[in-house]
Amino acid sequence: MTVAELIETLQKNTVLTKDEYIALIENAQEADRNLLFEKARTVREQYYQKDVYIRGLIEFTNYCKNNCYYCGIRCQNHAVERYRLLPDEILACVEEGYELGFRTFVLQGGEDLQYSVKDIGRLICEIKKRHSDCAVTLSVGEREHNVYQYWFDCGADRYLLRHETATKEHYEKLHPDDLSFEHRINCLYDLKEIGYQVGAGFMVGSPYQTTEYLANDILFLKKLQPHMIGIGPFIPQKDSPFANMPGGTLEQTLLLLGILRLSFPKVLLPATTALGTIHPQGREQGILAGANVVMPNLSPVGVREKYQLYDNKICTGDESAQCRQCLENRMQSIGYHIVVSRGDYPGIK
Ligand code: 5AD
Ligand code: FES
Repeated sequence: MTVAELIETLQKNTVLTKDEYIALIENAQEADRNLLFEKARTVREQYYQKDVYIRGLIEFTNYCKNNCYYCGIRCQNHAVERYRLLPDEILACVEEGYELGFRTFVLQGGEDLQYSVKDIGRLICEIKKRHSDCAVTLSVGEREHNVYQYWFDCGADRYLLRHETATKEHYEKLHPDDLSFEHRINCLYDLKEIGYQVGAGFMVGSPYQTTEYLANDILFLKKLQPHMIGIGPFIPQKDSPFANMPGGTLEQTLLLLGILRLSFPKVLLPATTALGTIHPQGREQGILAGANVVMPNLSPVGVREKYQLYDNKICTGDESAQCRQCLENRMQSIGYHIVVSRGDYPGIK
């Protein structure tokens, strides 16, 4: 099959074989990419028209007990200044976000056990009590089934946990020995079984990644059937063991976004901050490749510099109080618009 035929087949069947995914990723030329993005937009618009969903990201702690080699807030990075927001500071971000039109709040943090299970539970309850029209999303890493169940019972709606890579050998090159590939994957299945809307995902161009591994990621996602898929380029972090590794590219990330849209027509697909960091119009280009979500930062401006998973992260300076308006303008510039909505997966509430 030619690459154009692979794209047609993918659009028709929403899946390819592993070898076909590999061929598509390795051989797509300029014309193929344009065909892919055009089809990705058509499919996206069937479910979402020109709407772009926003998620207010609140990075409430950068303490982390883990030491993922790629990450700027890993425990052995002593160059980072640590912070932890108080519940009232988090709630103030939510109030500000609500006024700005956010109807989903993502509480994201490192794996910080100082914030107890009950503390987080109380926060979830309080946000839902104040704003019953909002979704609460958690992104605080790997926990046990009973903890995930408890937070769900407190009212949490969604959970983001990127699988990072679906290939065990690769997982073990990106993480120290005390982190387990199987445990991470099990967490995702636990979350789905409990009833969360689940987000998985991976970095594009992470160290040691091959095209075959990318095909494994897509086929793993086909099995998991998450509601959201977060992908962004790997960006080397200067104090990490991967400081001198090459980063992922705009081109490859856009290609993967297009392939994911055709493989998962209804999925929530963010144009990530990492994509916006490697190119000034990265997020706009992501939307034009099939993405339909953006996740601006609602964290207090004073702590944003400290939550740098990778170098040169955008929206950390004083321009960032304006992210909502900035994104509105950016989306309008390409003919799309932000909507005030929880932005649930189609057919779920
Ligand atoms: N570059 C890009 N993305 C990164 N993440 C962590 N470190 C980096 C980096 N250096 C991603 C991981 C994690 C998500 C919150 O951020 O995929 O799951
Ligand atoms: Fe943050 Fe543009 S989105 S400043």
